[in-house]
Amino acid sequence: MNETRRAILEAIADGPVSGPDLAESLEVSRAAVWKHVDELRDAGFDIDSGPAGYELVGVPEFGGEAVEYGLEAPFSVEYHDAIGSTNSRARELAVDGAEDVVVLADEQTGGRGRLEREWAAPSGGVWLSVVDRPAIAPSRAPLYTLAISVATATAAREAGVDARIKWPNDVVVPVGEEGDYRKLSGILTEMEGETDRVEWIVVGPGINANIDVDALPEGATSIREEAGDVDRRRFVQRLLEEFDNLRTDLESVVPAWRDLALTLGQRVRVDRPSGEVVGDAVDITETGALVLETDDGERVTVSAGDCEH
Ligand code: BTN
Repeated sequence: MNETRRAILEAIADGPVSGPDLAESLEVSRAAVWKHVDELRDAGFDIDSGPAGYELVGVPEFGGEAVEYGLEAPFSVEYHDAIGSTNSRARELAVDGAEDVVVLADEQTGGRGRLEREWAAPSGGVWLSVVDRPAIAPSRAPLYTLAISVATATAAREAGVDARIKWPNDVVVPVGEEGDYRKLSGILTEMEGETDRVEWIVVGPGINANIDVDALPEGATSIREEAGDVDRRRFVQRLLEEFDNLRTDLESVVPAWRDLALTLGQRVRVDRPSGEVVGDAVDITETGALVLETDDGERVTVSAGDCEH
């Protein structure tokens, strides 16, 4: 968000401030103050103008500036009511050199899942993609995906959902005691880099937020279904704040993931590029690979694949 607009919002949040006082304290012209107030109103901020000046009386429910206002993390947000895929748009921005930009949409018309699958993304969800340029080796990139799944699960838990993580990065809600689950969120990670350096990474979580389960594929659930509608503005802010904390302290990601894992202790089947493996999930490594113990007592480490339990 433009710095002057942010400063105006902060100044008028606790009571009315006159246009001339705003202009003086922000060292801009009165005309600039009017222009910014107009633009903020266009973005959905409810700003009263009474005899004592401007006062902020309402923040828009959802949108780019709504998420940026009060966000305690250094992201700018590009919002779309509808877009093909936030990941595709984020890739374009990444190629153009963007960093710490979030593409956010209410609806996707061509949502993309892992392994070239389609991803249903009707209006009411939280569909977003974060562009980052971390100074890490590609081998540590999976930690970014684990970090966004931890951040997603944490925000969902704060919204009242019993969210857990299925390896590597699906956020799910357990059903019964046997390790069964319904899927709340999936993540598509895409990156570009060389052998020793990530150039850019796009992490794209899709969260079934305020959506009826009838509009979702079988086996999916939503925040609406589990806990009632969530304030999506606050949800996205919490997700981004948690993600920012984790990415700046990558050592904290795996312990946080372990605390939320549904997979550990389960009997699992992992479909790897090199073939299927079945066993008990006993741990994850410091780079996020799953450790299985097979029936003949062998320990197998799996770094990628589709996991079922
Ligand atoms: C999966 O297959 O489980 C991953 C689904 C990822 C969907 C999200 S929605 C936001 C972002 N944009 C996309 O097109 N895909 C991801």
